[in-house]
Amino acid sequence: MLRLPGLIDIHVHTREPGATYKEDWDSVSAAALAGGFTTILAMPNTNPPITDLQTFDQALQLAQHKAHCDFGQYLGANADNAQSIASLAPQAAGLKMYLDQTYGPLRLDDMRQWMSHFEYWQMNRPIVAHADSRSLAAVILVAQLFNRPIHLAHVSKAEEILVIRKAKERGIQVTCEVTPHHLFLTQEDIPAIGTGRSEVRPRLNTPEDQKCLWDNLDVIDCFATDHAPHTLSEKDGSNPPPGFPGLETALPLFLTAVGNGKLTLDEVIARMYTNPKRIFNLPDQPDTYIEIDENQPWVIQSRNTYTRCAWTPFEGREVQGQLKQVVLRGKAVYKEGRVFAPPGYGQSIRTIG
Ligand code: NCD
Ligand code: ZN
Ligand code: ZN
Repeated sequence: MLRLPGLIDIHVHTREPGATYKEDWDSVSAAALAGGFTTILAMPNTNPPITDLQTFDQALQLAQHKAHCDFGQYLGANADNAQSIASLAPQAAGLKMYLDQTYGPLRLDDMRQWMSHFEYWQMNRPIVAHADSRSLAAVILVAQLFNRPIHLAHVSKAEEILVIRKAKERGIQVTCEVTPHHLFLTQEDIPAIGTGRSEVRPRLNTPEDQKCLWDNLDVIDCFATDHAPHTLSEKDGSNPPPGFPGLETALPLFLTAVGNGKLTLDEVIARMYTNPKRIFNLPDQPDTYIEIDENQPWVIQSRNTYTRCAWTPFEGREVQGQLKQVVLRGKAVYKEGRVFAPPGYGQSIRTIG
């Protein structure tokens, strides 16, 4: 039996408030435990989006009452809340800035808006940007102008990871995450998954992009699922929303890659525990670990999942390594497919300790 620390997913969409038919705090945090994650950080693009004291408090209340695992909540940057949300920074997972096409209404187009968020958001509190291609280079520069670190969400393209490499070589304070779907799927998988179901931002990329991500693994600080559940009727409908669920498939995909010699177990632990904990300044979870039967092969199937959206782009994939147990603060919160932590067992990462 392999024992690892409780994993951390810094990029999760809970869908509550506003779209609990896709997911809510209960289902998302159960899916997290079933995937080996004992901490999730929730994105602010809910309905309404989390952009002020009232919505932030509401989200934290919901999480406090419903979450089975530990949690943090991001605040969303909009055109005019830079000053007003700055005082909420100590309770937030971080500030999320959407600079490119995404799901939901949050988006900052004018760089003056970026600048005012860099100016007001508390120093040494994380800022995460959804920034594709050239906006990624632009936001690295603007963060530099304000002399503060920036974390880049779901990096997917060769040009992006290579710019980040150069920036790091220059000593610029930049960190980044890559998703399992950009590491394990490409455009070539779209026919098998289906066109609507394959919609995701950033889009699935070329095999060359994918190879470049693997070749620059040392530049990738974190693996984050970008768990973004939408129902199958939405994905198969006329206007499919972008996003894949990912909480319950990430760990087996990476363990299988370890088995195939694509990376080491230590490199996985660094990207799913040590680095996220450091970058987001997360507290220790005493007496917390996960146990895995390393050698057990199984097939990913969307039935038996906790995510309410009930599908996966990895359907039918053979993986190796099965999660047997999750212990959080001394309690067996997940065992052999069942969640034992009651709703509300999870704690806020900004109030623990
Ligand atoms: C995310 C969602 O559905 O909330 N979708 C996605 O394709 N990644 C939004 C986002 O992460 O930008
Ligand atoms: Zn995004
Ligand atoms: Zn996302």
